[in-house]
Amino acid sequence: MSKLIDGKAAAQSVIEQVKSATGVLQHETGTVPGIAVVIVGEDPASKVYVASKSRMAKECGFHSVQHDLSTESSEVDLLTLIGILNADPRVHGILVQLPLPPHIDSGRILQAIAPEKDVDGFTFVNVGKLGTGEIASAFVPCTPAGCMILLEGARGRDLSGLSAVVLGRSNIVGKPIANLLLAAHATVTVAHSRTKDLAAICRAADILVAAVGRPEMVRGDWIKPGATVIDVGINRVSAPDKGQGKTRIVGDVAYAEASEWAGAITPVPGGVGPMTIAMLMANTAKAAWIASGLEIADFDTLLCDRGPCVTPS
Ligand code: GUN
Repeated sequence: MSKLIDGKAAAQSVIEQVKSATGVLQHETGTVPGIAVVIVGEDPASKVYVASKSRMAKECGFHSVQHDLSTESSEVDLLTLIGILNADPRVHGILVQLPLPPHIDSGRILQAIAPEKDVDGFTFVNVGKLGTGEIASAFVPCTPAGCMILLEGARGRDLSGLSAVVLGRSNIVGKPIANLLLAAHATVTVAHSRTKDLAAICRAADILVAAVGRPEMVRGDWIKPGATVIDVGINRVSAPDKGQGKTRIVGDVAYAEASEWAGAITPVPGGVGPMTIAMLMANTAKAAWIASGLEIADFDTLLCDRGPCVTPS
């Protein structure tokens, strides 16, 4: 039986560290970290995510503003708002919730965010820093950054000699996590929808990160015995056993089967999910720290003293 990687506990630990870094920042410079979250349209899932981001920002003691734009807003409306937020000294982090309505060019919008306020890590400057190993000064996308903290609890920081397989090649998760795993010295394979014999590739993985958005695609016998499995998937599926019309959330990994093989595994929900918001708070505090002229090394010291996040399941 595998160990459960407790994302809720790890996220809580990051949040406590963000609160204490925020206290130090305020004491030393008078700066309160500020975050602006922008949402366009009425997508219910996005509304839930954005509400929890704004709530957590307040809990961390941040200055938090939310901009709700109508679905009919134009690209120019959004670019104008980003220009205002880029110039606002109280705002250190800007997050534009994705997906945007189809008439808006998401790439153009994301690249308009000032790189030093890009707490999602999506601008070319931050993507380039991550790709070239300049991680200390980069903003790393929140979900991959959270995955690495969970992995660190299970396997340590140095992944030398370990084989890691990333399922999925998205810009938000697959590609950045591949770069982070490389920076931690793992030997990395990125597999995707056009890869032949995914099962065989997964069976060679000491570390398997699944980020494909396909409910329970990864089966138990795809897992190398003792492997660490990080499941990024959040898929809503119908659950007739719970009653007519009911649903449940499952990951990209068939958890019950996989936990018979894995050494350690993240559950869904309660694994990677809570880490995404925690890392958004950490990135915002980091942006405020850098903007205030403090040493980034001191921020990293405050944020790296993490307790264990792996417990027997
Ligand atoms: N939508 C789903 N995940 C994300 C994310 O990490 N950042 C943003 N901005 N939107 C998202």
